[in-house]
Amino acid sequence: MAAVMGGVETARIAALMAAERAVFIDRHPRSAAQAGQGLEGFYQGVPMHWMLDWPMPFPLLVESASGSSLTDIDGHILADFCLGDTGSMFGHSPPAVADAIAEQARRGLTYMLPTGDAAAVGRLLQQRFGLPHWQVAGSATDANRFALRVARAATGRSKILVFNGCYHGTVDETFVRLVDGKSVNRPGLLGQVADLTTHTKVVEFNDLPALAAALADRDVACVITEPVLTNCCMVLPDPGFHTALRQLTRQAGTLLLIDETHTISTGPAGYCGRYGLEPDIFVLGKPVAGGVPAAVWGFTDQVSADLDQARAGLPPGHSGMGTTLSANALSLAAMRACLEKVMTPDAYAHMEALAEQLAQGLEAAITAARLPWHVVRVGARVEFICAPGPLRNGTEAEAAHAGPLEQAIHLALLNRGCLIAPFHNMMLVSPATEAAQVERLVNAFTDITRRLTEKRGPA
Ligand SMILES: Cc1ncc(COP(=O)(O)O)c(C=O)c1O
Repeated sequence: MAAVMGGVETARIAALMAAERAVFIDRHPRSAAQAGQGLEGFYQGVPMHWMLDWPMPFPLLVESASGSSLTDIDGHILADFCLGDTGSMFGHSPPAVADAIAEQARRGLTYMLPTGDAAAVGRLLQQRFGLPHWQVAGSATDANRFALRVARAATGRSKILVFNGCYHGTVDETFVRLVDGKSVNRPGLLGQVADLTTHTKVVEFNDLPALAAALADRDVACVITEPVLTNCCMVLPDPGFHTALRQLTRQAGTLLLIDETHTISTGPAGYCGRYGLEPDIFVLGKPVAGGVPAAVWGFTDQVSADLDQARAGLPPGHSGMGTTLSANALSLAAMRACLEKVMTPDAYAHMEALAEQLAQGLEAAITAARLPWHVVRVGARVEFICAPGPLRNGTEAEAAHAGPLEQAIHLALLNRGCLIAPFHNMMLVSPATEAAQVERLVNAFTDITRRLTEKRGPA
């Protein structure tokens, strides 16, 4: 019997990939000339190693991007549904953010002192997300790292708990996985010396009995989670999961950190705002300053009071938090513009309506091709998963990944004018995305699924 992946014969996947690689090479002579052998001066030929995680035979060099479109140096205009893996969720260079950046750029970029924009941002964050105390970091990774440190200090406990399959940036203590029911350091970590399982517990998402058991020792400072697991294939919470998670953490004296870096796709106040979640600590990175590196993290009065008490016993000096360029004037100017003028209810209404159109179009294509796949949507974020669903936890999500199949589809979509995220099958709809771009993506996906399944074979 022929080998199959995600319901598709692997020979067809390989044939599609080979055909699409040839098309890509033929159509990108300029990118090939500049990046075909790698970019000189960079390790592995790219400024950041994950730039090689795309399915193209060599990196696609970008000329410019605006709104929901991206132009490469060979002159191809792509409908961009990757949007910088959420960094540009609200479109490339939203005019209000671009103007604020240009204006601030003439007034100094970083001072280590607050600005008028900082005063405005503090109030905007309070109003939008309902938490009273905020700090600004340079990235969501940093915000999570600092917030975990605070959670430990505030509770006097050493451990944290993560859900299997999570990703919260390159935060050491979250790199723990469940393998055959045992917690282990995430495979693939470079230069790892500490056993991360000493201070990190890991249970499956949606597994309330396991969560309750893990919290019962009352040694966990903080549960850190996304409201929906987005960094494996998307895993939605079971009905009642978040209510129970909040009850269990409160009963155990454990803080709850909700990382909304991706799920801010849900609405203007994120998933928490939409579904009434009550985190003790809230983290939001990537798109919050329109694509300028920045993140925010906020916490309750109680966390603030406990933190004050913990700090009172410490000598002055390094807290283990902070980087020099955090909260610089440029990022605060961009963040203010983004919060005030870009992340608006009207923008979200547009994003959500088109995302629903996209999800329905993909579902129709999957049904027509009789593929055992499913589609998940969280606000403006849509994902197709090459396996039956819904998925309930990280282990199921990992098993649902179909690397070569997904890569062939990504490249075929690119050759049809649509860019989607490389790491999983994520598509984001921005305020600038047009219905015609969604239609283009649905048509391309329909064509590809047909080719992968039709009787006479692919391409
Ligand atoms: C949920 C979540 N939190 C945090 C991060 C880290 O963001 P950054 O890489 O910008 O630090 C990511 C990155 O993908 C993420 O998905």
